[in-house]
Amino acid sequence: MSIGKNIFLTIRVKFFFFTQWLKSIRYYLNVKFLFFDLLFSFVYLFFNPYRISRKFLEKKFNKKIYDYGETPIIEMEKIIKLFKIPSNVTFLELGAGRGKMSFWLYFFFKYKVIAIEQVPIFVKIANFFIKLFRIKKIQFLCSDMFAFDLKDIDIIYLYGTTLPTKKIKALINKFKKLSSSVKIITISYALDQYDKDFICKKSFDISFPWGKTKAYLNIKKGDTCY
Ligand SMILES: C[S@@+](CC[C@H](N)C(=O)[O-])C[C@H]1O[C@@H](n2cnc3c(N)ncnc32)[C@H](O)[C@@H]1O
Repeated sequence: MSIGKNIFLTIRVKFFFFTQWLKSIRYYLNVKFLFFDLLFSFVYLFFNPYRISRKFLEKKFNKKIYDYGETPIIEMEKIIKLFKIPSNVTFLELGAGRGKMSFWLYFFFKYKVIAIEQVPIFVKIANFFIKLFRIKKIQFLCSDMFAFDLKDIDIIYLYGTTLPTKKIKALINKFKKLSSSVKIITISYALDQYDKDFICKKSFDISFPWGKTKAYLNIKKGDTCY
C-alpha cells in the first residue's frame, strides 16, 4: 500500500473513532459505566487488543492474521433499537473480543449476557471486571464458538466478517438446532445467503472503522411470532 493511501486510511479511522467517541459521550452520564469504562480503558492501555489478537492467531496458525475489530457501541444501540430487541433476553455474543460491548449491553439494557471468546487474556480481564463490579448477569467464557453448546438463549450476535464459508455453514448447522424463536444478528452477510432454512427479517446500514456494511436480523423459517 502506498504511503499516501496509508496516511489517508489512518486519518479516516482516527476521525471515525473521534466522531464515535463524541456521539457516545452521553453514555458516560451513567456513573457505573463511566467508572467501568475508565478502568477498562486504563487496563487496555497496557494490553493492545489488536496486538493480543494478532499474537494469539500467529501462535495458532503460524502466520500473521489481522482479525480483530470491535462493533462501535453507537452502532450496537442502533441494532437494539431498529431490530426491536426486547428487555429480559439472554444475549449470546459469539467471539466477544475484550467484551466492551457485552458490558455495555449489561449496563444499559440489563440483558443476561453470555460472551464466548477464544483469547484467554480477554476472558481473564473481563472476568476480573465482572468480579470487581459484582456483575451477576454476564458469563464470560473462554471457549471455541464452534464447540460451544448453544442453549437457553434468545439473541445471538455474530460479528464474524472474516469467517470462511465453511465456518459460517458450521455455525448455521448449530443454529438450526435452536428454537425457532431465537434471533441471530449477523454483520456483512445474511444467513439466507448460505442456507434457505433461514430468512432475513430486517437489515440496515451500519458503520465500522473500515467502512459501511449491513447488519441483518435472521430467523429460522417457520417463525411467526416476530
Ligand atoms: C471481529 S472480533 C468481534 C468482537 C466483538 N464481538 C465486537 O463486535 O466488538 C471477533 C472475535 O471473535 C473471536 N473468535 C474468532 N473465532 C473464534 C472461535 N472459534 N471461538 C471463540 N472466539 C472466536 C476473535 O478472537 C475475536 O476476538
